[in-house]
Amino acid sequence: MARLRTWCTPAVAALALGLAGCGDRDDAAGTTPASAPAATTAAPPTPTAPEPPAPEPPPRPLPGLPPDTAGFEDWPRLNAAPIPPDSAQTARVGFDAHRGVKNVHVDQPGARAGDPGPPYPDGTVLVKAAGTGGDLTLVAIMRKVAGSDPAHGDWEYVEYKRTGAGQDFATDASLTGATCWSCHAIAAGTDWVFTPADPG
Ligand code: HEC
Repeated sequence: MARLRTWCTPAVAALALGLAGCGDRDDAAGTTPASAPAATTAAPPTPTAPEPPAPEPPPRPLPGLPPDTAGFEDWPRLNAAPIPPDSAQTARVGFDAHRGVKNVHVDQPGARAGDPGPPYPDGTVLVKAAGTGGDLTLVAIMRKVAGSDPAHGDWEYVEYKRTGAGQDFATDASLTGATCWSCHAIAAGTDWVFTPADPG
């Protein structure tokens, strides 16, 4: 009996183990969620952190315009509503030097509320953008550069034109200096700037 026991015991144990093994597998199959087998063949999805938003690219000037006008369309506007042809300001000088519907932008955040200006501080850039039918064809610029021309308000003037959207802006030697300040002198009392800030 003892011999039989020693022969039987491992076999029984093996059988028991086998059963236990089967039992384990059955248990596993019965309690594991249906998605578990897939997890053993495919790597679990790695949680990925959301991509940080790409930094805004710096604005670029319209083709042919100088870099300091980049993004001027988003600067504050002095005028509350677009300025029509033959505006009140053009009536002061007798004719409309910049035909079309206009907007006057200034790179000073508070300028719409009159802070600063006029007078505007050194470094101010004023852009008058004009066009017809929504097409921007004229960009006239005044830049305040301390010491550049104290007799005429220390403004640098330059104007750019193009024939239509998609074209490059270009200037020429006649579209600067006295051509501009000779008329802007009429607004010398408001720092040579015609358009008043209109908070709307
Ligand atoms: C005959 C007069 C006259 C001439 C010449 C003239 N301007 Fe003007 N400019 C005006 C008037 C008037 C305004 C106001 C906007 C409006 O109501 O049309 C103005 C507005 C501007 C503005 C916006 C700031 C402001 O004063 O309101 C800029 C910038 C500007 N002009 C640039 C120029 C440049 C650059 C030249 C020369 C190439 C020039 N101007 C020539 C009359 C003139």
